[in-house]
Amino acid sequence: MKADAIPTHPVHIPASEADLMLQRRLKKHHVAIILIHWFNASTWILELTTGAALIVSRYFRVTPEWYVTLVEGVFGSRGNLLRFHIALGLTWIFVFLVYGIFGFRTYLRTEVLHKEMGLDRDDWRWLIVRGLRILGRSNEALPTQGSYNAGQKMFGWLVYTMIPIVMISGLVMTFRGLGTPLVGWAVVAHFGAVGAVVSGLMIHVYMGAVFPEEKSAFFSMFTGTVDELYAYHHHFKWWREMKLKERAWMERHDREAHVDAPTPEADAPPAPAPATPPHA
Ligand code: HEM
Repeated sequence: MKADAIPTHPVHIPASEADLMLQRRLKKHHVAIILIHWFNASTWILELTTGAALIVSRYFRVTPEWYVTLVEGVFGSRGNLLRFHIALGLTWIFVFLVYGIFGFRTYLRTEVLHKEMGLDRDDWRWLIVRGLRILGRSNEALPTQGSYNAGQKMFGWLVYTMIPIVMISGLVMTFRGLGTPLVGWAVVAHFGAVGAVVSGLMIHVYMGAVFPEEKSAFFSMFTGTVDELYAYHHHFKWWREMKLKERAWMERHDREAHVDAPTPEADAPPAPAPATPPHA
């Protein structure tokens, strides 16, 4: 796609251009975002594995007996299992605190609050149309989307509102200084908030790791980049924003190059010294 012909809405791309767009890369994720995402994903896998084996009472359990025995066996005892769950949870809180405090301006505000959670008019329309399409009540095309679509932003809202609840309730249960009734409520809040995230995670992991159309998004969580064709088809508004920035950069670059270029006279070779000085 030529930089001077940036469309305002998606148009058909000829095969030759599509092929070029497949080879060009756009930077989507900062390395800090990739690192925190995979640290968070690994923590959730381990905390869910161990947490599920910890919820055992006379009236209630979420996993079969053999699972509890297996996980306790891996850790040697139930006490060790609990110690591991708490130690990892505290490490997770500490890492997020450091990330939140030192990365507030660069990552949390711009990447998370603005790009991953900020909903505009097209996002609200996307949610309505998507819902109607799922119910078979509409054939309307989905509005174009920014670097995250409205479904991903909903997941962002779920994660970033539930995570503080998981953290605070985890701390209340660990340090137990605030009285038994509060610890009881913390157990309920911890379980409820984790359950809410897990319900969203089922869709998130399916879309991220299995859904064929989103393969580019999955690899972008390792490389940080996506191909331009994927960006064009799935995140058109973001693609357009990137192209406008690229064009502005090119124009600025050419302007500066023009100013820096030597004038034709200055460029000409110096005149040879006269054989005899003038006015000699
Ligand atoms: C193995 C499990 C996981 C896979 C395969 C996975 C996959 C992905 C992919 C592909 C993206 C990029 C989406 C895009 O650029 O369009 C993403 C982003 C994201 N994921 Fe996951 N994810 C996993 C686990 C988790 C967990 C456990 C959480 C939180 C509880 C989470 C929260 C997020 C969030 C908030 C984003 C937005 C970007 C960010 O801030 O990191 N993911 N994930």
